[in-house]
Amino acid sequence: MKILVTGGAGFIGCNFIYYMLGRYPDYEIVCLDALTYAGNLKSLDGVKNNKNFKFVKGSISDKELVDTLFAEEKFDVVVNFAAESHVDRSIENPFIFLETNVMGTACLLEASKKYSVKRYHQVSTDEVYGDLPLDRPDLFFTEDLPLTTSSPYSASKASADLLTLAFHRTYGLPVTISRCSNNYGPYQFPEKLIPLMIVRAQENEALPVYGEGLNVRDWLYVDDHCKAIDMIIHNGRVGEVYNVGGHNERQNIQVVRTILRQLDKPETLISYVKDRAGHDLRYAIDPSKISNELGWEPETDFDSGMKKTIQWYLDNTEWIEEIKSGEYAEYSRRIYG
Ligand SMILES: NC(=O)c1ccc[n+]([C@@H]2O[C@H](COP(=O)([O-])OP(=O)(O)OC[C@H]3O[C@@H](n4cnc5c(N)ncnc54)[C@H](O)[C@@H]3O)[C@@H](O)[C@H]2O)c1
Repeated sequence: MKILVTGGAGFIGCNFIYYMLGRYPDYEIVCLDALTYAGNLKSLDGVKNNKNFKFVKGSISDKELVDTLFAEEKFDVVVNFAAESHVDRSIENPFIFLETNVMGTACLLEASKKYSVKRYHQVSTDEVYGDLPLDRPDLFFTEDLPLTTSSPYSASKASADLLTLAFHRTYGLPVTISRCSNNYGPYQFPEKLIPLMIVRAQENEALPVYGEGLNVRDWLYVDDHCKAIDMIIHNGRVGEVYNVGGHNERQNIQVVRTILRQLDKPETLISYVKDRAGHDLRYAIDPSKISNELGWEPETDFDSGMKKTIQWYLDNTEWIEEIKSGEYAEYSRRIYG
């Protein structure tokens, strides 16, 4: 099987490539990534010499490049992780989110149709459902809820989902969609909550927490997300959406305190800052469908997942320093011109 993984130099994409090549050594994977600020070729060092892996630098919005790549490689499966993914950046500049997340997805769908791929999988997010109230712990996101987005990021992801489903209905393209809750684990860019707090706490810097830190997120270890996508592309029903989450809700402030405790740092580092505009209150996934249909269950609980994650950041200070110092840009130029 030959799989196109877009956005594979980012957090979840690179974990997915390691997961798949570990589990299916005979599969071929081509990674297409534009290497934006969030993409890091170093994250793929572990597969760069694998004969079944190939990296192509380019944008999913580059129609000509995408068409040529599909014509040459004849992919069986496309898994689209490539996206602008940071809500705060979408509030500052929504347009690049539309360009990549909507138009880029359209380019991939068009090429998947033209070259008759056997499965197009869109990696989406629970944020397309908007949010849930804090005082209704009985409510969960199910796949049949209407899409009610809050940020330009989630609006762009919801648009991509609708387009994906439209390509199925109109052209019969065999698509699937996964909508996952917040991921954590190795290789996550240090602008996101968990790595941001680990990196800053390590340096004894203030930990900026939005509002009172009471917003609730449903955390899933990244390998469990990869496992879900693996199951969906192999056994998921075409045209279907699958929610992915492990019933692991935590207030942001609880997550920050866990990190401080594990790093043996004082809570005085916490600094409450002005809340994010339009900040979603609570996300909580109902994963019954993927669990009942495909037998998916998460394997990593929050405590052991956090231990592994924190240890990874402690062991990989070079990876973080390169991002922070901007040296990574030079690395990328050196390797790929
Ligand atoms: N991180 C989460 O908690 C989470 C949860 C659910 C869903 N998702 C979704 O999973 C996907 C991956 O998220 P992530 O956290 O790994 O993101 P990330 O920001 O870490 O990585 C995104 C990757 O996409 C690449 N990219 C950006 N624009 C591109 C373009 N035009 N063409 C090709 N590549 C491009 C970047 O270079 C980067 O390597 C996204 O679609 C996101 O919406 C993320």
